[in-house]
Amino acid sequence: MPVITSIDDLKAIYKRRVPKMFYDYCESGSWTEQTFRENVSDFDLIRLRQRVATDMSGRSTATTMIGQPVAMPVALAPVGLTGMQDADGEIKAARAAADFGVPFTLSTMSICSIEDVAANTSKPFWFQLYTMKDEDYVNRLIQRAKDAKCSALVITLDLQILGQRHKDLKNGLSAPPKLTLKTMANLATKWSWGLNMLGTKRRAFGNIVGHVKGISDTSSLMAWTSEQFDPTLDWDKIKKIKDKWGGPVILKGILDAEDARAALNVGADAIVVSNHGGRQLDGAISSIRALDPILDAVGDKVEVHLDSGIRSGQDVLKAVAMGAKGTYIGRAFTYGLGAMGQAGVTRALQVIHREMDISMALCGRRTIPDLGRDMLLIPEGFSGRWQV
Ligand code: GLV
Repeated sequence: MPVITSIDDLKAIYKRRVPKMFYDYCESGSWTEQTFRENVSDFDLIRLRQRVATDMSGRSTATTMIGQPVAMPVALAPVGLTGMQDADGEIKAARAAADFGVPFTLSTMSICSIEDVAANTSKPFWFQLYTMKDEDYVNRLIQRAKDAKCSALVITLDLQILGQRHKDLKNGLSAPPKLTLKTMANLATKWSWGLNMLGTKRRAFGNIVGHVKGISDTSSLMAWTSEQFDPTLDWDKIKKIKDKWGGPVILKGILDAEDARAALNVGADAIVVSNHGGRQLDGAISSIRALDPILDAVGDKVEVHLDSGIRSGQDVLKAVAMGAKGTYIGRAFTYGLGAMGQAGVTRALQVIHREMDISMALCGRRTIPDLGRDMLLIPEGFSGRWQV
């Protein structure tokens, strides 16, 4: 086994081990992938201020997200089809997150169902909700998340229709994979992934199959989103869902200060500055560039979190120093899962934690409350001199 020192090391193993269809699903942005790329490259534009001769003993990355203690300000983002990256993937990722002391968010489009993850883990997790046309089904999903003792509802606002990712169409993405000649040829080279998959019964969308009727193809994310997701979602509907849930609510997919203010009116406990990992509106601004105007608009009134582009502990540090109360990793933990199962998710969290902790020390800071913008070098005009 190679020595793993970075998220990129996990990604290289992941690419070799997992079928192309699922690697491509994870590693795609929509259309030209401009936003997908800039989510990462914009982090590189921000520099950290090196400070010396400061006492760096007794450091801690511990903090809270929506009042819940976390070992570092990093949650696992909801990722669809996680259980296709490695058998029982959601259960493995949730266990790794719980052991590490960070939140795990289960996607509506997961392979393992809410009940299955709850039965196979010992700590509460967060549940991500897509709003559907079928109100009964949404109500049942909310109730199922309540029954499973989920400790927050993360409502995704930026995917009422699916942004086009070319490779998913070309690969005929589905869960389980449809066995065309091309797919079979690729699967034949992925024997360790395949053996694990053969050993589990969890190979379809667990929150959906058996819970809804009238879908033309339950194995296709694209069919499901276009037939079932509610294109009429608005702030009133979001408020109603929040009231039905009755617990902590996180609104995910905010990229604009005006939307952030509207989220505040709904009474969100946190908002996530996000462009869905560059998978929805191609040409949208990167999350890290969008953070400042949103903090200016609502930062003193609601917790502001950020996802899209976080691949290292240094990225986490930059986002938190800028003012985010928490961050989410999606691809970074998926690489670990696909590479090495639960141990790979743990490894991804360890890598990010170590990068964050040591970089924090080299910036002369010891704890999360010590972090601030004065440790960053942000290029002039970074958050945009856009004409609106
Ligand atoms: C679903 O959430 C996706 O981005 O594919």
